[in-house]
Amino acid sequence: MRVDYDQLEQQIAALSHGETDEVALMATLACEIHHADDRFDWTGFYRVTGPELLKIGPYQGGHGCLVIPFSKGVCGAAARTRETQLVPDVDAFPGHIACSSSTRSEIVLPVFGQGGRLIGVLDIDSNQPDAFTPEDAARLGRILAATFAGV
Ligand code: SME
Repeated sequence: MRVDYDQLEQQIAALSHGETDEVALMATLACEIHHADDRFDWTGFYRVTGPELLKIGPYQGGHGCLVIPFSKGVCGAAARTRETQLVPDVDAFPGHIACSSSTRSEIVLPVFGQGGRLIGVLDIDSNQPDAFTPEDAARLGRILAATFAGV
């Protein structure tokens, strides 16, 4: 099953309409995105909870690491640079944090709230190599912007 981004975007907009609680929104997105595509084996958020620090937020899949400093891993790189990280081969990414040994590729997007405040990151991991495309980055980025821009 491959995601239909138009449908996913509409569904998320309908479910999250009027909601501004960050965790409620993250939980809803993690669930909706995770179940929309067979490539997505772990889907979840890390939240900025301190200076240069990410902590686990709502997710779907096996257990995730609880704490990730901005200096570590793909999630840390997305938070530090405020740019989406598309990683076709996690073994080739210096400092990748292997929460699950089955992960082969991943995409991590920064999540911004009002005024460009960094709320956290959205991390999607796949057991397939080179699973993510620039279209995934663009469409997921659009969903995040629409959901969190007012938060
Ligand atoms: N792969 C991530 C760590 C998070 S878990 O895989 C859920 C990283 O290197 O940032």
